[in-house]
Amino acid sequence: MGHSDQVGTTPAQSQLQQYWMPFSPNKEFKREPRLFDRAEGMYFYTPDGRKLIDASAGLFCVAAGHCRPEISEAVYKQLQTLDFTAPFLRGHPGAFELANRIVDYTPPGLNRVFFVNSGSESVDTAMKIALMVHRVRGQSQRQIFISRERAYHGVNMGGVALGGMVNNRRAFGVGLAGVYHMRHTALPENKFVKGQPETGAELADDLLRFCNLYGGENIAAVFVEPTAGSFGCLPPPKGYLNRLREICDQNGILLVFDEVITGWGRMGENFGAQAFGVTPDILTMAKALTNGAQPMGAVAVKQELYDVITEAGPERGIEFFHGYTYSAHPAACAAGLAMMDIFKKDRLVDRARELSPYFAEAMHSLRDLPVVVDIRSIGMMAAIEVAPSGGPGARGHVIQKRLYDKALHLKSTGDSLIIAPPLIAEKHHVDEIASKIRDVLSEL
Ligand SMILES: Cc1ncc(COP(=O)(O)O)c(C=O)c1O
Repeated sequence: MGHSDQVGTTPAQSQLQQYWMPFSPNKEFKREPRLFDRAEGMYFYTPDGRKLIDASAGLFCVAAGHCRPEISEAVYKQLQTLDFTAPFLRGHPGAFELANRIVDYTPPGLNRVFFVNSGSESVDTAMKIALMVHRVRGQSQRQIFISRERAYHGVNMGGVALGGMVNNRRAFGVGLAGVYHMRHTALPENKFVKGQPETGAELADDLLRFCNLYGGENIAAVFVEPTAGSFGCLPPPKGYLNRLREICDQNGILLVFDEVITGWGRMGENFGAQAFGVTPDILTMAKALTNGAQPMGAVAVKQELYDVITEAGPERGIEFFHGYTYSAHPAACAAGLAMMDIFKKDRLVDRARELSPYFAEAMHSLRDLPVVVDIRSIGMMAAIEVAPSGGPGARGHVIQKRLYDKALHLKSTGDSLIIAPPLIAEKHHVDEIASKIRDVLSEL
């Protein structure tokens, strides 16, 4: 397997200027480009034929490994049969079938699915659903959203306002009014904890502060990632999410889990909701839903929320004025359906659960390295945080470049390396990841 003997071409410098790269240091990248032009299974390949292990499932997307023929064939067939249909006033069978297949995995009751094209869109859609639910229930005063420091909820305006990572916000003003942030859950005593920390559940009571200050009856929804992902794997303290659920219930607030990363097996269960035993009212997903092979996100909502909005609408009129040209795109649905088959056939969720203890051991084995200041892990996700050097994030950035040069791809945020391999990973892949990280961190 693999094509390391195949060599492609790296574009000339002059050809690299026109593309404005997202979330990237454009000037640096164009001076020293790091490209992939092929991928298969657990590996990426560079134009000059180098093979890199994918330690972050691309960007938390490729749960089933790269270039699954089942997906590409399904997409190809779909594009030859029905390439596009307006998603408004028209439908196609794949959209209905995929929604049905998704609700086999979502927590009980969350059985209505709205399709979008990304995680960011799923978050802004969830915000609108929450506002609309309260409006039709005669509680349109509920306009406040609560999220958390260190949260990442994508880059659309709603998601930026909810987000709790300063660089994603500071250039864009204050975002939306009426969004407040609870404390994050990274406590100093919880360093190097495997799985859910024992202490910190009381941090959920921070929500009470906003209920007391603004009135719980004015809060529309609380958004949390069950485990903060992009910031660098912050699992919830034991009891924390249960307590949030309790406070939301006491105050009529909707609880939204942003499961763009934690969904689809990453936590060793279908969703974080099941892994942590707490059911939200609304759940967002994207990424692994199509294995990253087509852009797609979705919002799963409790049936009663769908019902209240739909029943409040006119008999023959639109009930919810929201949707995207590419909502439930036929090719994305085809990829999603192929992925649902793969989830079942490859037992991806079970595999993730079974490999998690080994993965955690391997990641925590790096604790002895002097630069490492914290390691957090849960399911098939871990973060290794290094001591900053040369300003926040500078060292993390250098490390991810060196790792690329040493044949490992991963996502870094600030000074945290985030490891979340495809769920098809075998023990030897985990060993390879740990040993490459050790090599690079030892040199620092
Ligand atoms: C929790 C969470 N929400 C939303 C998003 C945004 O997703 P996208 O980049 O597909 O818009 C991400 C992306 O990493 C995420 O981790």
